[in-house]
Amino acid sequence: MPRKIGVIGMGNVGTMVVQYLLTSGIVDDLVIFDKNKAKAHANALDIRDGLPNLPDHVNIQENDYSALKDADVVISTLGDLGAELHPKDPKRFGDRMIEFPLNTPEVKSVAKHIKVSGFHGILIVVTNPCDVMTYLYQKITGLPKNQVIGTGTLLDSARMKRHVSEAFHVDPRSVQGFTLGEHGGSQFIAWSTVRVLSQPIIPLAKKMHVDLNSIEQSARKESFVVFRDKQCTQYGIAAAAVRLARIIMSDARTEIPVCNYRDEYQTYLSYPVIVGQKGVVRHVHLNLTNEEKKKLTHSADCIKKDINSMN
Ligand code: 2OP
Repeated sequence: MPRKIGVIGMGNVGTMVVQYLLTSGIVDDLVIFDKNKAKAHANALDIRDGLPNLPDHVNIQENDYSALKDADVVISTLGDLGAELHPKDPKRFGDRMIEFPLNTPEVKSVAKHIKVSGFHGILIVVTNPCDVMTYLYQKITGLPKNQVIGTGTLLDSARMKRHVSEAFHVDPRSVQGFTLGEHGGSQFIAWSTVRVLSQPIIPLAKKMHVDLNSIEQSARKESFVVFRDKQCTQYGIAAAAVRLARIIMSDARTEIPVCNYRDEYQTYLSYPVIVGQKGVVRHVHLNLTNEEKKKLTHSADCIKKDINSMN
């Protein structure tokens, strides 16, 4: 069976996701979508122009929802950053909720098309505000909750790893641990889960005079700095989305912090789970400190409040 992936939205993030997928070796059939038909077509032409010089052949289709019936994965990257705002208006990069009213109607429409297509694979949600949109996609598509996964704090965890890696001079892939909660303002680094140089980071940082608060502030502010100076983020988020797709396509059963439905919080939020071909295949439980548990409850409350404001 050819391995099939759909990518919704041919903006800065969607095209970067496509770019990574084309060289990933994990896809045979790629279906790209954009509400601007000419843009979808232009991207399909441009991608096909790349194929003679790429290592793997990939079949390209465009804007055909019926093709999603037997897709393994669909990645929603659609998003409207508020074109009416000046590119440097702080509102554009100060708050992911700015996209909420702009993206909600489009997500509703795309989710209905996905449902009608008979898609029964794994839906990866990148669209912001990620936690709310993951909820909305699941509600409208009616897919089982474990098959709708937001990239959530996979990206924020990567930012944390990068900053920790720079402070301790190691490869970011040698840092373990998680940023939890909302892919937004109430997220937090669960320092009790973070390990570097094979040690829990809290005592090690003390010994080596590394300031974890300033690492947390830098990791949190990162997207806003990128937004301010290039008006989008794309490499970091696309790498997170494609890593998640790779885990699903290869049934890797990897432990990864992503936005998933948590019964104990009655909402979608980011918390590590085991992901495989069938989506979230197993839950894990962290031994968080009381302070971290409080922060996670607060983050869940923020997400629930946003979801309720939509209903
Ligand atoms: C990011 O954190 C904007 O959510 C996007 O890069």
